[in-house]
Amino acid sequence: MRTQVLTTSVLALGIYAACSNAPRGEIEDGDSGNGGSGGANPTGGTGGTGATGGTGGASASGGASASGGASASGGVSAGGAGGVTGGAAGAGGATTGGVGGATGGVGGATGGAGGMGGMVVTNDPSCQSHPAQNDRKVVIRTDHPDSVNRFSQMSGSEKLAILSGPDSCPSYNCFDAFGVPARNIPDFRMRDGPRGVRSVESTPEKSTAVAVSEARAASFDVALEYRVGRLMANELRALRSDILLAPTINILRHPRWARAQETYGEDPVLQGEMGTAFVLGMQQDGAGMPACPKHFAGNNTDENRGGGNTPGAVNAIVDEQTLRENYTRAFQMIVERADPASIMAAYNKVTVSGTSATGQVCSENPYLLTEILRTDWGWKGFVVSDWWATGDGPGSGTGPASIAAGLDCEMPQAEGFSTLSTSTHAADIDRAAKRILDVRASFGQLSDAYITQRDTAHDVNIVNTGMVDGVSHQAIALQTAEEGSVLLKNDGILPLGKTVMKAGAPVGTATVASIMVMGPDANLPRTDTSSGAHGLGDRGSSNNAPPRAVSYVQGLMAEATGVTVTSSNTVGDAGNADIVVIPVTMAHEDEGEAYSNGGDRDDLDISGPHPGHWSTKPAAFINQVAAVNPNVIVLLAVGGPVIDSDGWMANARAIVQPFYPGQEGGTAVAKLLLGKINFSGKLPFTVARGEGDYGTFGNNTSSVTFDYLHGYRRIADPLFFFGFGESYTSYAYSDLQVLCTDGISQQGRLTTQVTVTNSGGMAGDEVVQLYVGFPPNTTRMHPPPPRELKAFTRVHLEPGETKQVQLSVNAKDLTHWGANGWEFDPGMHTVFVGPSSDPGKLLSAPFTLN
Ligand code: BGC
Repeated sequence: MRTQVLTTSVLALGIYAACSNAPRGEIEDGDSGNGGSGGANPTGGTGGTGATGGTGGASASGGASASGGASASGGVSAGGAGGVTGGAAGAGGATTGGVGGATGGVGGATGGAGGMGGMVVTNDPSCQSHPAQNDRKVVIRTDHPDSVNRFSQMSGSEKLAILSGPDSCPSYNCFDAFGVPARNIPDFRMRDGPRGVRSVESTPEKSTAVAVSEARAASFDVALEYRVGRLMANELRALRSDILLAPTINILRHPRWARAQETYGEDPVLQGEMGTAFVLGMQQDGAGMPACPKHFAGNNTDENRGGGNTPGAVNAIVDEQTLRENYTRAFQMIVERADPASIMAAYNKVTVSGTSATGQVCSENPYLLTEILRTDWGWKGFVVSDWWATGDGPGSGTGPASIAAGLDCEMPQAEGFSTLSTSTHAADIDRAAKRILDVRASFGQLSDAYITQRDTAHDVNIVNTGMVDGVSHQAIALQTAEEGSVLLKNDGILPLGKTVMKAGAPVGTATVASIMVMGPDANLPRTDTSSGAHGLGDRGSSNNAPPRAVSYVQGLMAEATGVTVTSSNTVGDAGNADIVVIPVTMAHEDEGEAYSNGGDRDDLDISGPHPGHWSTKPAAFINQVAAVNPNVIVLLAVGGPVIDSDGWMANARAIVQPFYPGQEGGTAVAKLLLGKINFSGKLPFTVARGEGDYGTFGNNTSSVTFDYLHGYRRIADPLFFFGFGESYTSYAYSDLQVLCTDGISQQGRLTTQVTVTNSGGMAGDEVVQLYVGFPPNTTRMHPPPPRELKAFTRVHLEPGETKQVQLSVNAKDLTHWGANGWEFDPGMHTVFVGPSSDPGKLLSAPFTLN
């Protein structure tokens, strides 16, 4: 048996180094530690192939060394502060081989450190003090000569001009803000894209469709998300564009929200970690392309979100603790750890009791745009409105209020800003124009070379040839679907390749001779977008046009060698195959951004009016098919939870949620069903037993009060726990240790170690999750939830293999929002580590925060 120590943290920016094909640090006993690649930027951090970081393991004394290597974590465990400091104090050593940068080297100055041996470190010094705890990523410069010089030459009207776009634009391209050719400032081209770059040509140009963000969240794979960010930057350039309006960073407060698929799920830490990875990957410290996390803040319902000249946007009413911990927390993590170029203000209104947020729409909300973003977080990028979000139309008079509140760019056209005066509002206009120039200069976008590259030297074929660290864009899309699919139920029917289906057939032989894919969604995903579902997700602003899409039928035909694969819509045909696979997909009318007939889900089941393109609703169809052939496998290509109704779950022998799995979805699902690869996805949200468990939701409500608790924090007895997902193997957890015998200081961090063994028969990746429970005697306004996710990592384990996995959390991430800002709960806490948020599956140990 191999035994290893794996050091990582959710806050693990160094993990991104794994994106550069770094060795995974899986080292046989006694080998020298083999660190992952370090950062592209040796002084701090984003992953990639770093100069000094690349061979962390080799340079540290891990592995065979009895003195043990430094922590493999490098900046990984540094709370995501950019991995500046490399590994923490040395640890372990002993006799077994180390892990090196199993999680990738660190993206930090020293890159992944060496291996750690098998001995447990007690009283890790970083528990008392960790230098990287407060490090900030800085990408946006305010002193770049290209910005300073251009700004000094511009007239007031030129500065005002670059704050928005033209008065009229074709509906497919209202995305370009003005430039000032006389000052050598090109137009500023903004493009959507959480799942792929959205073309603005009348005949859309192609871009890779990866699995939607919700699926990528289910992978819990920040290294992969970093790579997705780099893919997006490559393709944004190829589409002659300048900034991507992504990622979507609104938590899934209630799963009926139309845009569930665009989010990274219900948990702020998961959301913040995935969003950080995406932005770091895209931006590459200024060498990449600008990103724009959206929608700030409280955008959690769609049909009355406002915008598009719609008066009366929904008012999100929220107390400050709830706002800071749940609705702005992920944004704050991304601001501090990735320094995004821009942030998009949301459409809705926000009211926060006791603050200056008194129901203004977000684009005119000084509390959000100035007090939080600037005063509290010190962020230097520019704020863009959501499209047509300010006021109620051109010349509405809201320009002065919105620019004074902190809006810098009104898109796509000057409505409120058309009423600004270059004399009366000169100071605000100066501030906004400078911020936009600063961002563009910080990414080199005001240089002649950039403009030439953008307009004449872009690589139009990159969607077919694009690579990130030697991995093709197509392969990245496939990986997002493979890792992002969640196995919710399996009574033993899966994997199909090992299943004996016919009476009398010898066990161990692959006897599945025929598979029938049934229902109206069998031939999805597809690229055609003419009508109904296309299986790739929303057709709202996150739509994109991939060059290909592999359907579920095509995927099985290609992967299931020797098996007859057919499709049918007729229940009676079900008996003609050994196995029936029923994909259930929502169309954008069922769950999709609230325009072009899109909107919030009306319910969470599949027996009511949705999906609309199914004449017999899926729940009834599944039950009817199961009566003919019990070997039914259901695929849920849906952005959020699907609850049970009409008893369909009992009639499905296996249930898989691939979400909208992107252009390679059919291949990924086929490989998973056949057992060519293992499942590793875990739910990024809670699946409740009934919709009422989630609290209230109104598709078209004029106000909504956000409760403090949602998701797993609220629902004690769900159908499927947050973080849950089955696989074809089993993992055993043991020996949870807190490596901080003297407690943790407020400048330090929690470090833990747990032993994880693959106790089954197939190799797989396990998502190890760390939750923290807080002392009950807190002074908090809202009592704490039972536990909160604070860290996670993916661990690869061969059958029988054991690894010791370290997870750490910066003390400052154990705070709550109180009367004096972020406050600690001194005293005894509990750390929980395990495979999901299910309390019955979690190991626990106490620790003290001093
Ligand atoms: C969406 C944004 C999007 C914008 C531009 C709005 O309707 O809410 O997410 O970036 O349109 O397409």
